[in-house]
Amino acid sequence: MTIRFRLDPESPDERVLAVAGRVLRSGRLVAFPTETVYGLGANALSSEAVACIFAAKGRPADNPLIVHVASVEDVRQVARMDHRAEVLFRRFAPGPLTLVLPAREDVPENVRASLPTVAVRIPAHPVALGLLRYCGCPVAAPSANSSGRPSPTTAEAVAEDLGNSPAVLLDGGSTVLGVESTVVDAVSETLTLLRPGGLPLEELEAVAGKVLLPETAQLLAHSPGTRHRHYAPTLPLFLWEEEDQVWAEVAALARPGEIGYVGLREPPFECGVVRRFAHADAYAAGLFGALRDLEKCALRLLVADMPSSFRIGRALRDRLRRAAQRS
Ligand code: TXA
Ligand code: MG
Repeated sequence: MTIRFRLDPESPDERVLAVAGRVLRSGRLVAFPTETVYGLGANALSSEAVACIFAAKGRPADNPLIVHVASVEDVRQVARMDHRAEVLFRRFAPGPLTLVLPAREDVPENVRASLPTVAVRIPAHPVALGLLRYCGCPVAAPSANSSGRPSPTTAEAVAEDLGNSPAVLLDGGSTVLGVESTVVDAVSETLTLLRPGGLPLEELEAVAGKVLLPETAQLLAHSPGTRHRHYAPTLPLFLWEEEDQVWAEVAALARPGEIGYVGLREPPFECGVVRRFAHADAYAAGLFGALRDLEKCALRLLVADMPSSFRIGRALRDRLRRAAQRS
């Protein structure tokens, strides 16, 4: 049985955090909210505990995990941090920035999928930070969804996907950003964007200078996880770019009442279920939840509005493209 605790996300009950910290440290799984999405955490220094994450999610072993720590100093528990990485963390942490750095040898192989590197981040959420402080060890935590499903932005979505796998589920309500952290390779000389996310590229480049945007082939070599299918809703998803052409396509496949829509712009005709957001940040915060809701409705297909790649729009476009992949 999973024990579920409801916590005030701003000032969580310390006694609950202390219990959850002990559970984590003892080798069991704890699901918890971060500012991006919910994570499924295990003691990152225990390969047995980490193996439970892969089993619970059905995650391929070649997709490495992000290790979460409580402070910039604690990054050194798992990685070698050079001056550039320290400057970036001092500027953006706690926050949605994950840096891939050279790993310390004692980081278990399954955390890193046998790579010589490890991904590290410091989450900006009182529940996540409190949990990290109480457990006193680095915490490996991928998003707390079944592999291939949209990331969970609520405790309900975690429970829906993972059932009783976590020993403890910390319910801190809906997450604020709604898309995962920005992942940056900080091993090579030039920084490379491996996954656009909650920290806009524009903000990163203002501090770090030019960041490389790799071609797909290079990306596969760098970030093994990107090869796998992601963020897939159970209904076919069509993308609405600048032109209205997609609407002719979907009108040939379904009646308006059988179409679900998410996005910013007003759709050209009335759809069965419509989730519209006032701006791109709200779209990011609501996208994964909307995909999960819409697939429970009696619909044939989904259409999603593609925003511009400005700021959070870059991450939204990436997630929507992956969600629409048919293979
Ligand atoms: O916001 C987030 O990042 C959330 C919360 C829970 O912190 N976590 C998350 O984890 O999204 P996950 O496992 O769903 O995504 C981790 C990404 C994957 O694309 C993975 O391939 C990449 O980080 N990654 C992890 N370690 C890596 C490494 N050593 N080298 C390259 N990419 C790595
Ligand atoms: Mg994930």
